[in-house]
Amino acid sequence: MRSGGDDRSGIERVFWQTPKAGDISRLEQKSAPLGALPADRVRVDVRAIGLNFADIFALTGLYSATPTGAFIPGLEFSGTVSECGADTSGFAPGDRVMGVTRFGGYASVIDSEPDTLIPLPHGWDFTRGAAWPAQTLTAWYALTRLGALRPGQQVLVHSAAGGVGLQAMKLARALGGEPVGTVGNRDKVSALSEQGFDRVLVREKDFARQLRREGLRFDLVLDAIGGAVQQASFDALKPMGRLVVFGAAEFTPTGRRPNYLRAAWRYLRRPRYDVMDMISSNRSVLAFNLIWLWEQKAEMRALLAELQAVPLAPPLVGHRFPFGDVHAALALLRSGRSVGKVVLEYGIRDLS
Ligand SMILES: NC(=O)c1ccc[n+]([C@@H]2O[C@H](COP(=O)([O-])OP(=O)(O)OC[C@H]3O[C@@H](n4cnc5c(N)ncnc54)[C@H](OP(=O)(O)O)[C@@H]3O)[C@@H](O)[C@H]2O)c1
Repeated sequence: MRSGGDDRSGIERVFWQTPKAGDISRLEQKSAPLGALPADRVRVDVRAIGLNFADIFALTGLYSATPTGAFIPGLEFSGTVSECGADTSGFAPGDRVMGVTRFGGYASVIDSEPDTLIPLPHGWDFTRGAAWPAQTLTAWYALTRLGALRPGQQVLVHSAAGGVGLQAMKLARALGGEPVGTVGNRDKVSALSEQGFDRVLVREKDFARQLRREGLRFDLVLDAIGGAVQQASFDALKPMGRLVVFGAAEFTPTGRRPNYLRAAWRYLRRPRYDVMDMISSNRSVLAFNLIWLWEQKAEMRALLAELQAVPLAPPLVGHRFPFGDVHAALALLRSGRSVGKVVLEYGIRDLS
């Protein structure tokens, strides 16, 4: 599909597209001729794509930011710059880059805004690059902008072996915090221990009782699960503690389409917080959706610049799939059993 040399006429762009959110199985591989590059964009030949839990929610229509009608999912990628628009600066053909995109990521070629691209760190392969931007931005925003983490503080990180979770554990430690992770499955404990984290709880059915038994209290909790886990975590906050919420994995559809009855039941039973109680107990709840950052160019640039200055080990890529195996990759992520990042690689069996 992709030719070598400078002549790019006749090149096809390959992508995964769904005609409409609602049923994950309707995601289909398609191709179309590559159009001319807009003057304000940088063209990237994609080599790897990072999968995010948000992709599953977008495909099943449970994500408020999902585009209406047909769309290409995907929020982050890495690859090589092939062409730079006349009005862009800072990049040149051949540069190895990683970047974020507001949907459109599951594609062999991406015409990116230069502001949302950063150079791939020296020595990183493309899968690590694709595993880095969205989860690291999420963890950093939660810990610094909302969490206001200070050295010595105890941080509870849910789904600590996942994409965002593992980056949050590393960043919390880099900021001087003391992270305690939770996982839903005992199999994930060793992966965290290999990454240098030994304070890990395998969540029990009665998580509130487990926290009381362990005598754990926290200054900060990062939660993207919701429900009883979230309520118990809030109850375990110390005075001045912050609960930062950025997802609701408990709503994950178990089939290819959401079970709206089950979702409605969970929604009705979701935790609710009383601001008067928050005043008297000195604890607070904060929440965010990073998709908002796409409209805030200056804030996005500032966050990416901050992150490039944080000395961090490369992200853990737990699972690699060829571009054509997107359904298997999404099924693994949705199962809740993945460790580290799930990545699609373009170019293994996809070039012809
Ligand atoms: N608001 C934002 O801007 C933003 C940005 C990025 C990500 N997020 C959210 O952050 C969370 C992590 O994202 P990620 O892409 O890094 O995913 P991930 O953590 O790699 O995978 C999701 C994890 O959720 C946990 N989980 C809990 N209940 C589950 C259920 N019923 N079904 C399946 N999994 C369940 C599982 O880990 P354990 O069982 O070990 O807990 C699973 O591995 C997601 O909820 C995502 O929506 C939010």
